[in-house]
Amino acid sequence: MSPTSDLLATALAQSGFHPRLPQQRRLYEAAKAAIHQQRLAAGSKLPSSRDLARDLGIARNTVIAAFEQLAAEGYVVSTKGSGTYVADLQAHSASMRGVGAAPQGKPVTRTHGAAASGTTAVARPARLSRRGQELASYAAGPQFEIQPFAPGEPDFSSFPFKLWQRLQNRIWREARNDLLDYGQSGGHLPLRQAITEYLRISRSVKVEVEQVLITAGTQQSLDLCAQLLADAGDTAWVEDPCYWGARRVFQARELKLRPITVDSDGMALDEADLATRPRLIYVTPSHQYPTGAVMSLTRRRDLLEVAVRKDAWILEDDYDSEFRYTGRPLAALQGLDNDDRVLYMGTFSKVLYPGIKVGYLVVPPALIDAFRSALYDLQRPGQLTVQATLTDFITLGHFTTHVRKIRQTYGARRELLRHLLARQLPRNVSISKEESGLHLVVELPDSVDDVALAQRAAALSISVKALSTYYLKPQVRRGLLVGYAYCTPEQITDYGRQLGAVISGAALDRD
Ligand SMILES: Cc1ncc(COP(=O)(O)O)c(C=O)c1O
Repeated sequence: MSPTSDLLATALAQSGFHPRLPQQRRLYEAAKAAIHQQRLAAGSKLPSSRDLARDLGIARNTVIAAFEQLAAEGYVVSTKGSGTYVADLQAHSASMRGVGAAPQGKPVTRTHGAAASGTTAVARPARLSRRGQELASYAAGPQFEIQPFAPGEPDFSSFPFKLWQRLQNRIWREARNDLLDYGQSGGHLPLRQAITEYLRISRSVKVEVEQVLITAGTQQSLDLCAQLLADAGDTAWVEDPCYWGARRVFQARELKLRPITVDSDGMALDEADLATRPRLIYVTPSHQYPTGAVMSLTRRRDLLEVAVRKDAWILEDDYDSEFRYTGRPLAALQGLDNDDRVLYMGTFSKVLYPGIKVGYLVVPPALIDAFRSALYDLQRPGQLTVQATLTDFITLGHFTTHVRKIRQTYGARRELLRHLLARQLPRNVSISKEESGLHLVVELPDSVDDVALAQRAAALSISVKALSTYYLKPQVRRGLLVGYAYCTPEQITDYGRQLGAVISGAALDRD
């Protein structure tokens, strides 16, 4: 085997690529990384596609496709009859800038897309801000196709595509100029009215239409709150374990996070917590993410009182209350608030589809003007045609029908998964009991490494998440988040058996 084949074989073996990533893409990524890191030096010759295919034990067409991609992006140069050579990225970069060669060893980043046209642009080493570097350090890597048991993913196939298209066509046929403008005054008024009514009836939220802003989802709602209500260095109390998206926003806004333990009654403040002074308190009281705990009434009242005493804002993330399978949906914490301390946020990401990027934020009356103008100045919101379509979807009754339908579907899938796992799992493993959401938590003994277990499941194309990774404090509970909404009953049965076997093996080992 040639040294280059050997290098690529090792890179592929150590890469940790997702098992579903096509071979051709793996080889391309491995070669690209080796070129960037100058482990494959500029000017060095790559083995022929035939030799490399033989050395790596893969099809020649796979190698050819990877080489073609590398050539199209300027990483290698193929010369007919002579072979394929690693391109000199540094020299290219320097010539683009009209200066001498870049210092050796500096990372080179590539701007997206320009290469295929033959006008390969190789950018300077990325110079990120301190905040940018911090954010980049959290990068979770490429996202792959959604796989069975991915937590939080709704069933896209149940979305009423045709109906939505009809409603959307009607909006476009009306050719209303006002829907083509930026969204002003907090979003499309009829949608804000429909949401106001929905929140009053279904979630017991105390709300007037002026208080509702349409945002591009919870992430944007949280970011607006962080920007307008806290300064860098201020403290935010967050649940521990915590929704990573909220954590990331607060970190990006340079807030100090104080993780607060979550037990079966939700966020549980102790004396040490109470000695600190939060500006923001982020909670998911209806269905704690990810444990599923429901905040008790006593805790809700106590939290509201603490917020008043500390002069803090409570950010209530009510992301999936539509999915309550037994009993009545719980009232929102905001409905108990008599001091205008709570900012309430919801999203259509789970109940319709994540890419719709429409959410809502209900702010206390004193904050309306500040939030409206900041939303406009910072985001220039748009997508009014989507907002208008969604309005019709709600006001014509389709939303209620859709929720009823998927609630039934998801409830049945939840029960199927629960029974299947319960039959297989040993006594030292339990399954969360609460009756809502899009995932179950399989609770593991402390001695089981849930991250390793999730990786083992990933090798079977099962995308469960390790509970311990959601914690900020070192004391963590171990478990797996297992999503069921996205899976068909057949997939639940098939992959559920495989997952049960993986969990049982690990848990019994530690019994
Ligand atoms: C706790 C929580 N809040 C909110 C969201 C949805 O946020 P967005 O509206 O930004 O899609 C999610 C999505 O996974 C979530 O888990």
